[in-house]
Parts: sequence; C-alpha cells; structure tokens
Amino acid sequence: MNTLDIITKKRDGGSLSEAEIRYLTEGCVSGEIPDYQMAAFLMAVYFRGLNREEIFALTKAMRDSGDVADLSQVAGFKVDKHSTGGVGDKTTLIVAPIASACGVPVAKMSGRGLGFTGGTVDKLESVPGFRTALTRDEFVNQVNRTGIAVIGQSETIALADKKLYALRDVTATVENMGLIASSIMSKKLASGSDGILLDVKWGRGAFMKTVEDARELAELMVDIGRSAGRKTMAMITDMNQPLGRAVGNSLEVREAIDVLRGEGPADIYELSLRLASEMISMSLNISPEEAEARARAAVDEGRALGKFREFVDAQGGDGGIIENPLLMGEARFSESIRAGDNGYIEEIDALKIGMASQHTGAGREKKEDVIDKCAGILLTRKRGDEVKTGDELCRVFAGTQEKLEQASAICREAFEIGENKPSGRELIEEIIGR
Ligand code: URA
Repeated sequence: MNTLDIITKKRDGGSLSEAEIRYLTEGCVSGEIPDYQMAAFLMAVYFRGLNREEIFALTKAMRDSGDVADLSQVAGFKVDKHSTGGVGDKTTLIVAPIASACGVPVAKMSGRGLGFTGGTVDKLESVPGFRTALTRDEFVNQVNRTGIAVIGQSETIALADKKLYALRDVTATVENMGLIASSIMSKKLASGSDGILLDVKWGRGAFMKTVEDARELAELMVDIGRSAGRKTMAMITDMNQPLGRAVGNSLEVREAIDVLRGEGPADIYELSLRLASEMISMSLNISPEEAEARARAAVDEGRALGKFREFVDAQGGDGGIIENPLLMGEARFSESIRAGDNGYIEEIDALKIGMASQHTGAGREKKEDVIDKCAGILLTRKRGDEVKTGDELCRVFAGTQEKLEQASAICREAFEIGENKPSGRELIEEIIGR
C-alpha cells in the first residue's frame, strides 16, 4: 500500500477500504508515515468527509492502536457515561454514586480538563489524598468490593487518536463530524464497558453549537457503538449556560455533595438523575421509569451520599470534606460581580464563564499547566432570574489579585440582562437510541 495513493484517493473524493484506513493509523502511530502526510490526509477528510463504513473503520483502527481495557473480571453489566464537555458539568461525581448505590458496577476512566472545559479527574483530586492513579488490579478489586472506582484515562489508550488529535488541533481539522465521532468512540470502545451513555451537549459552552449538529454527532456515535456490539444511547442536553451554579474544581465537588444530599440546584439535580436512571435502566434491564424511581430513592434515603463517602475513602481521599468542605481549601481572593441594570437574566454565556474560570486558574491552557483547585466561579443567579441594579450575579474566586481581575472582567460580559423574562429552554432536548 502507498500513503500518497491513499491521500490522493481521498483528495479526489474516493472511499477508503478498511485496510487502507488501518494502514494509515498504524503508520501514523509507528512514525513510518510522517506528520505532513497525515496532516494532508486530515485536510482531505475535512473537505471530502468520511462515509459511515470509513468512520467505523477509523474508529476500530484507533481503538486497536493502544491498550484495550479488559473489565471481564468486574461482575455485572458496566455502563460508561461520557459527556462531550461543558462548563460546570460535575454530573459524573453525582451519577456514579447514585448508579452504584442502585447496584450498577461503575468502573470509569475519566479525563482532565483542558481549555474552558473541566475534567472529572481534576475535580476528584481537589479532595485531599484522593488517588486517581490506581493499578489495574486495584481498580478491578475496588469495583468488585465497593461497586465504584474512577481513575484517570490511561495514557496508552487509542494512541492513534492521541496523535491525530494533536495534528487536527494545529491544522484546523478538528471540526469534522466523522473525525470527532471516531475520536470519542475509539476511546469509549477501548475503555471496556458493556454499555455507553453519551451526554452530547449543545450550545454556547459546547463543542456543538446547534441542536442539529449535536443530533448528527449523537446519532453517529450511537450507530458506531451499536455496530461495535455495545448497548449505546445518547442524550442531547443544553450547555448554553453553565450547569448548576459552581464552576471550578473544589467548588464543583461541594455542589456535587449538595446534590447527593438532595439540596443542589434544580438543573444539575434533574440532569444527574436522568443520566443515572438511563445507566441503571441499561445495566439492570429495567424500565427507565422504574430506574428513575430507584435513583430518586437512593438520593432521598442517603444511600447515594453514603456511596460517595465509601468511594472517596476507598481511593484514599478525606471523607471529612462531606461535613467540612473547607478541608479542600479556600481561594485567597474573591469578588462579587453585580447587575448594572434592573431586569431578567436572558443569558449566562457558558463559554465566557468557562473562559473566566480558566483565567481564575481553575483550568488549563496547555496540558502541562498546574491548576488551582480552589479557584472558580459561583453563580448567584441563573437564566430567567429577576435582578435589580447592584444584585450579585456571581462570585469569582482566585489565588491572586491579577487572576481575579482578569476573570472578573470576562464574567461581567457573560450576563445578558433584558426587560422580559426569557422563555424556558429544555435541559434535555432529546434521547437517541433508547
Ligand atoms: N473530544 C474528543 O475526544 N475528540 C474530538 O475530536 C473532539 C472532542
């Protein structure tokens, strides 16, 4: 096979065979195919697209390019929940203990935050002592013993995706539906679960800016998951404003604990319950209604919070944070952002809040950056709330005065106040593949 012939074929709009796609991904990982040729291939794909068969072939080739987790020693039907990324999305911290408390084995690999989106691993590491780097045996034993473990995603999973993503990032070829779907699903298929629940976000603070794009991506990923023999479904959810009120690592852990107590903000509570219900329904093969009743009972009876404590203890974390969140520390500087007008909050731009949060030190610009676990933003108001001039809209937390000022300036731009109460927007737009 010849790399130049394959690039030419795609450039001219042809369809590639499974063997040709595998040849490219293997050559990319081994270094036999230079980056400039892979970059040219990606640009050809960007303009010509990939058909369904090519997307499946690329997903499978990328899945097989690194470690594929074997979770066969974990008893029960394991469901992985994956979010396409957003601002204030701490659902894993809530959904995992609820599902586990209902008898679903949770063996989850999660990522770190990058840019304006957060990552579950960073959030968990704001709990003093919490270890996200367990060995494979520790991970499997913990799930079998306690029903729940969350670890950092292996560096050696889907190696071709890692390489290709880095190239896409610097060649303006990230935004291609087939490349995005195959990138996400290659890692999900390699992480060893039996079922996959996708939370595909749409809106200002999401990768997909419109519901239509989110639906196309969701349908494609459900199709890929099923063709690989996994039970797969997707929820399309709103990410125009941040989820819940807390954005930033330890702030989000605190909010997750509130939700597990049944006391958190309505949007994050409802979304977490619905996600947990779908996981429970998939894993235990019961109706979504029955699953939702079990999920609500697990929260109401305190079993979900109890499971969270057991999970934190099992991974070396200080469970005392549940009663005393200040054990996670506090930011040195804070400032209130206040309304400049009377009216209703028409929009809280999730992208701007995410960027502001990154400027507080809560997020990374580059992978190597060290984050500040105590920094972030707490929204005092949400979309649709009525405000008067001078009312607090949010509070910004940072480790230095300079970061506080930079982040506060962005936060001021994030709130849109108008005369009329905005009409409601569905938190869950659609469920695909139930
Ligand atoms: N997330 C991924 O893992 N891959 C993409 O291509 C886009 C988002």
